[in-house]
Amino acid sequence: MKFNRAVNIADLREVARRQLPRSVFGFIDGGAHDERTLRDNEGDLAAIRFAPRMLVDVSTRSQQVEVLGQTLSSPMVFGPTGIAGVVWPEGDLCLARATAAKGIGFCQSTTSNASIEQVAQRGRKGQWFHLYVQKDRGLTKSLVDRAWDAGCPVLVLTVDLPVSGPRERDIRNGFTVPPRIDLSNVFDYASKLGWLMRMANAPRFTFGNLDDPNGAPRKLVTLAEQIARNFDASVGWKDFERLRSEWKGKLVIKGLLRADDARRAAELGADAVVVSNHGGRQLDSAPSAIAALPPIVQAVEGKIPVLMDGGIRRGSDVVKAIALGASACIVGRAGLYGLASAGQPGVERAIDILQREIDITLALLGVPDIRHVDRSALFEA
Ligand SMILES: Cc1cc2nc3c(=O)[nH]c(=O)nc-3n(C[C@H](O)[C@H](O)[C@H](O)COP(=O)(O)O)c2cc1C
Repeated sequence: MKFNRAVNIADLREVARRQLPRSVFGFIDGGAHDERTLRDNEGDLAAIRFAPRMLVDVSTRSQQVEVLGQTLSSPMVFGPTGIAGVVWPEGDLCLARATAAKGIGFCQSTTSNASIEQVAQRGRKGQWFHLYVQKDRGLTKSLVDRAWDAGCPVLVLTVDLPVSGPRERDIRNGFTVPPRIDLSNVFDYASKLGWLMRMANAPRFTFGNLDDPNGAPRKLVTLAEQIARNFDASVGWKDFERLRSEWKGKLVIKGLLRADDARRAAELGADAVVVSNHGGRQLDSAPSAIAALPPIVQAVEGKIPVLMDGGIRRGSDVVKAIALGASACIVGRAGLYGLASAGQPGVERAIDILQREIDITLALLGVPDIRHVDRSALFEA
């Protein structure tokens, strides 16, 4: 199937699976340990039922929202996904350009292949930047300064990755960054000729934000090794407070699942929280994001927006999260499946699919403006 025949995100996932070597597909598609939380993210959203209203004028509809000072054409931000360059050459720029073209948000990863400056200059204006605190605090400070200088209005501190989650697909497939071709996987790579040719012609693999431009060439490592070496597992609330005093823009914490943590984040000056289990890639058996959302919405008492992240595969999933109190959703894999299938046009296809599904859901739900969707839109037996 060609990407432009994909009817839904599941179709795009299937195109991605056929395009990518198994190890690369496993890296984007997989989760931690038994992937229970990954499955629950999708399953718990799928289990929610609507309570549609009839005889409502839905001839004009809107899914536009304001989030953290930005107007978005839909309540969606494509979230930080590291090393998107292994999926498609200059993958970060494809994601940045596609999200800008469609009017939704985009958050760049610390571990992107393109640098903050490259995304700001060649991708889009106003990208959000996500921070993993590095052991080298000088490097961490310089990332924050670079994000501000590049015009990022929002800094997203991801707090659910003190150590790398145990991704068994990556271990089994011997996934490394950059990907390494050896005897064990040569047939897998050789069978994905399109991907292989694109990668052969792609710019050199870099961690645009972390590489020392004058340093030695990067050695092959697993992602888990890279994280263990550089990421700071000692990060605590004091670090958040320091960041709050240093960062002049909006500051968001991504990766909370508990009401007390969310309340504390709001008290300490977070501008928003993202309810997230990292797409089921960190602690397996953590609750699904949609299950963790309502207690957190209740805990912050409307003082700050709450975003939900994890399991969005349909536009109707976005509407369900909004009904349970989210201000917007962060979307990870759906964009990457689009990216794998055709680069920037594939990402645009993923956004079109989700936006069309949000639109039809609003029409059939009898709530023509997404800002008016609330809990009464859900069927609670
Ligand atoms: C391939 C991949 C790379 C990711 N890299 C990061 C990252 O660098 N930083 C981060 O905070 N989250 C990262 N995430 C998590 C996403 O931001 C997001 O939380 C998750 O994908 C949401 O779940 P979904 O894929 O079901 O939409 C990554 C996810 C994937 C699939």
